Amino acid sequence: MAIDLIIRNARILDGLGNPAFEGDVEVDEGRIRTVGAASSEARTEVDAGGLHLSPGFIDVHSHDDGAFIRYPDMGFKLAQGVTTCVCGNCGFSAIPATPGEDPGPASGGIITGAQGAFADLEGYFNAVYAKRPAINAIMLVGHNTVRAQVMGMENRAPTKDERAAMRGKVAKAMEQGACGFSTGLIYRPGRWSETEEVIELAQEAKAFDALYTTHMRNEGDRLLEAVEETLTIARNAGVRAHISHHKAAGKANWGKVRQSLDLVDAAKAAGQTVTLDIYPYTAGSGRMIEYFRLDAIDRSFAETIRIANCPAFREFEGRMLSDIAVERAEDIADTVRLILTAPKGDRTICIHFIIDEADIETNLRYPGMMVGSDGIPTLNGKPHPRLFGTFPRVLGEYVRKRGVLSLEEAVARMTSVSADTFGLKERGRIAEGYHADLVLFDPGVIIDAATYDNPKQTPPGVSLVVVNGQIALRDGVATNAGSGQMLRYRRHAYAASA
Ligand code: ZN
Ligand code: CU
Repeated sequence: MAIDLIIRNARILDGLGNPAFEGDVEVDEGRIRTVGAASSEARTEVDAGGLHLSPGFIDVHSHDDGAFIRYPDMGFKLAQGVTTCVCGNCGFSAIPATPGEDPGPASGGIITGAQGAFADLEGYFNAVYAKRPAINAIMLVGHNTVRAQVMGMENRAPTKDERAAMRGKVAKAMEQGACGFSTGLIYRPGRWSETEEVIELAQEAKAFDALYTTHMRNEGDRLLEAVEETLTIARNAGVRAHISHHKAAGKANWGKVRQSLDLVDAAKAAGQTVTLDIYPYTAGSGRMIEYFRLDAIDRSFAETIRIANCPAFREFEGRMLSDIAVERAEDIADTVRLILTAPKGDRTICIHFIIDEADIETNLRYPGMMVGSDGIPTLNGKPHPRLFGTFPRVLGEYVRKRGVLSLEEAVARMTSVSADTFGLKERGRIAEGYHADLVLFDPGVIIDAATYDNPKQTPPGVSLVVVNGQIALRDGVATNAGSGQMLRYRRHAYAASA
């Protein structure tokens, strides 16, 4: 009996940080059958030609909730060798939702255009399965979404009943397999919540030993206070803390990541479990409206902005706000106002250059630092290149060119460390019995090709991607196998009920 697939002559990186070794990998019925010398016959054989085979990369920080429905081929992630995305970050998740209602505001716009009939995580999973996604997803349940569902966009504390309703929604998502509770305390409506509210909701993750992940209340002047708040929330709720896209934003704060990591180390020494991720770029990106108060526009922040996607002014896309202001002979604050108050101005996505390159290296040197793209899957205009290049950039730029970390270490942080932290059962390593999510790449070639001017570029150096035992990408061409699965925290994948 022939098995499904054999990949021969690979240099195998097991995902645990061990040096690569030569061997074959046998795959059958979605799982890795043997690692070493293949002895079976297979329906499909691939000669790896000495390229490196590692577990598929795990994007621990994605906003692909809506993308799984709009772009089920997930080409921008698959081409990087990503086989699983953690969705629902920064407090915004596709669920809970009210069927028939525009989920845009409650989900921070991430699910706009993907209005489904789903209300909860199982409904979302079924909706995604119906699209036959190319890769896997696991979901966090977002605070902003839950709060907006229960309270609308109200700037006040929740009542007792509202607190109970929010807890119920978080609990239901956890029961259905969410890997944790996420916040985006810089965004509306999360920024209107007190620490106590977050602690109470994070407690719902405790019974599952799941995560509290956070886009912290402040990543600049008050970074250290925000780290303290994160540690307090996780400690009081009894959950594991995960700091998303760790950074020190704004020139005045550059270098502060060292102090921030010291706080994390102290918490760990005191027994807390704390993990982090970063994206390997000096610019952030998000919905522009979230960063400004129209009555008090921050000009120095405006100077750092480049427009990524702007439905109201397509001609601004790809340009620095400061250049647009000069061209229009106006105060940059007026340019900000012009954009944000135009029809659909609130949908404008900006890119802001706020991070120091040296801080990225400091972060990547930190033991266990994971990688998340934070890519915003709005494909119009000129999106932040991180959507297309994050994982190849770490391996090409920071491993090969700069030697900031070793290849095996980088791969471990993108695979087993992430799988263990986010509860992806039997994934993230090349080991017998594990799910066959694999990527074959050339460490001497892999690099990000996506730039700010030309972001939608396929990274070179990735030759094969296998998702749940099926070839999803070969020689740069997607096969449309549609073998992605919807994963549940520390449990087996959700089985489609359709
Ligand atoms: Zn964020
Ligand atoms: Cu994010």
